[in-house]
Amino acid sequence: MSTAQPAGEPAARGALLPVTARELPIVERGAGVYLYAEDGRRYLDGSSGAVAANLGHGNETIAEALAEQARTVAFAHRTQFRSRPAEQLAALVGEHAPGELRWSLFSSSGSEANELALRIAMAYWAARGKPEKVEFVSRSVSYHGSTLGALSLTGQPRRRAGAEALLHGFARLHTPVPDAGSVADLRAELQRLDPRGIAAVVTEPIGGASSGAVVPPEGYYEHLRGWCDAHDVLWIADEVMCGFGRTGQWFAVQHWDAVPDVLVFGKGVSGGYGPLAGIVCGDRIAEPVLTDRGFVDFGHTYSNAPIGAALGLAVVREMRRHRLVERAGEIGTLLRAELDAVAGRHPIVHQRRGLGLLHAIELACPPSSQPFPAEHGLTQRLLAAARAEGLLLYPAVQGVRNGRGDGVLIAPPLIITAAEVGELARSLDAALGTLEESLDSSGPERS
Ligand SMILES: Cc1ncc(COP(=O)(O)O)c(C=O)c1O
Repeated sequence: MSTAQPAGEPAARGALLPVTARELPIVERGAGVYLYAEDGRRYLDGSSGAVAANLGHGNETIAEALAEQARTVAFAHRTQFRSRPAEQLAALVGEHAPGELRWSLFSSSGSEANELALRIAMAYWAARGKPEKVEFVSRSVSYHGSTLGALSLTGQPRRRAGAEALLHGFARLHTPVPDAGSVADLRAELQRLDPRGIAAVVTEPIGGASSGAVVPPEGYYEHLRGWCDAHDVLWIADEVMCGFGRTGQWFAVQHWDAVPDVLVFGKGVSGGYGPLAGIVCGDRIAEPVLTDRGFVDFGHTYSNAPIGAALGLAVVREMRRHRLVERAGEIGTLLRAELDAVAGRHPIVHQRRGLGLLHAIELACPPSSQPFPAEHGLTQRLLAAARAEGLLLYPAVQGVRNGRGDGVLIAPPLIITAAEVGELARSLDAALGTLEESLDSSGPERS
């Protein structure tokens, strides 16, 4: 284990717990779509980190807004003061959110925001005289966060491992992978549920890292919306990864004719410049809760704090000024074409999927299209090969094929240029070539 001690400095007693098995470079700075390591290497941030750095790195406007708010007032508790930045950010979220969604509550992380979504759903049903509705239904391959409620929703055994004893065993719907999942399947699965105890169904409108940018078939969300309405069940859309412009709409559900009851956001709302997330819901949810209690009695220390809100406000303004949502759609079309071309040159790429600037490629063993055996570590090998080409990607797709699967997310900052998309595609092409060569020389055998 490395203590990563800079040369010449005395050995420190304290150390960071390592978070990966491999040695990592030390990041020095970021500029635009690039990250620079202390060893002088430059990396194209092809996944915006964990799909968070949507504005790219080193944005002076955001840095200045943060500094200004820190100087003015960084923290004032939401039970002691209202704050202009929080109210202005809520107004902007309401302007861009789908349908009638307009009541926001902020938090520091996507996990916490999902906890808030669970709490507001339960508060809603309690206010409606149905306190027995406390069950949640999520999808078989999904990620909703690492706090215990959000992890209970999460359908990814690897993430749950070690915490199972503390988690709820919520029911699951199948995640509709393009060649294995239809609206008819959803209909049949919903029919098997007993809706009486169910507070809400929770879905990532477009899959994130767990499923790998899965876009459900046409009519899927319209059907889910209809079923929820008919059976007194809420729909919570977890847009922590796919929201805030990532897919070419402010929110991914805007690709369909269906509006959730509660929308959860994170990551892109701060563009990676600080911890910020939140929920937004409509009058239909907020009014019974507010009539019942007068206010919401849950939240976190940093909920609605001025510093985080000022950050979100600066991010949304920057996104509007540079038309980043439209850009994600336009440049996303180019990225998609480039990725399709790369995929066509590499038989181990089974599928390219996604929307806007949220894409994944899934790997499978040609010609059978079966997942590679997990012990071959294809995802990690591709990540390493890409890193060697100066390209950072994010692991994905681990679990969509009966618990197996390999792939990566490709989700660069929304500011990426056409030339940089070309560079990304060339590096990915080279990395896939390296991976295929290593398979040819050492196995695994192709079946
Ligand atoms: C869809 C989704 N929900 C929730 C989360 C959890 O967010 P956080 O890591 O900010 O707690 C993530 C993080 O990757 C996510 O992708």
